[in-house]
Amino acid sequence: SADDIRFLLDEAEQWIEFNRRPRKQDGRLVGLTQINAFFENSTRTLVSFELAGKRLGAQVVNFSAATSSVKKGESLKDTALTLNAMRPDVLVIRHDANGAALQVAELMDCPVINAGDGSGEHPTQALLDVLTIRRRFGRIEGLKVAICGDIRHSRVAGSNMRSLPLLGAEVRLIGPPSLLPDLAPDGIGLFEDFDEGIAGADVVMMLRIQHERMEAGLSGTLGDYFGRYGLSRARLDRAAPGAVVMHPGPMNRGVEIDGELADDPERSAILEQVEMGVALRIACLDVVTRPARGG
Ligand code: CP
Repeated sequence: SADDIRFLLDEAEQWIEFNRRPRKQDGRLVGLTQINAFFENSTRTLVSFELAGKRLGAQVVNFSAATSSVKKGESLKDTALTLNAMRPDVLVIRHDANGAALQVAELMDCPVINAGDGSGEHPTQALLDVLTIRRRFGRIEGLKVAICGDIRHSRVAGSNMRSLPLLGAEVRLIGPPSLLPDLAPDGIGLFEDFDEGIAGADVVMMLRIQHERMEAGLSGTLGDYFGRYGLSRARLDRAAPGAVVMHPGPMNRGVEIDGELADDPERSAILEQVEMGVALRIACLDVVTRPARGG
């Protein structure tokens, strides 16, 4: 709900200054065990959840499916039951199947945080995006947010198009027809023409093309992608004055975004998103473990 989102954002705000200190240590999760179970590759989400847990004092274990008994054929259910038997206090999971986090949550005795499931949801990414936007503009209500690129396969777009309108933002989705959803939720505009969709936008959120989630051959039909859907300075000039550029990463420079624009701290909030990710994930770990800590 909007109140849940605002609550987590307010909690996260309290950790931003903490993360900028030379020594970052808080003991509230001492004695608790956090398992980060990643069945898909990650840089930002895995490292920030690991840092978040360690900064709160938790014992953090990273489980990578690539080097686990998943490679010997062990199922998601058996993997979850096995990890649960080790009595973790919180599980963070990333998986390539939609609904995997929910499936695992139903098997676990501890809280489960979805760190991205297939093309379904990436809730902590959406929360850190909203936090970044709120810090830049001081509000979410009334802002126009253009999400551009491979919307169809993007869990980041999925979670953002559900959370931003709850807080009063107008969301527009821009991309080639093959990468747009067949239907957008009520109130969300679909644009095949980038210049039309970006006009007057306060936030331009770029997404990478997710070749790994596409049917064979679709990538080959995209032609001059940067020319039609890449974000350049000239294109950004069509957005609102001072519009902020975002990208959840990983970026493909020169494919969906001009590299020099991505590096411009006046216009790009991309590294700020990464920084907010640690604060937001600390807040999530703190909040979900409160019952176990008697809070
Ligand atoms: N934004 C995001 O989820 O990045 P990673 O895949 O590197 O975690």
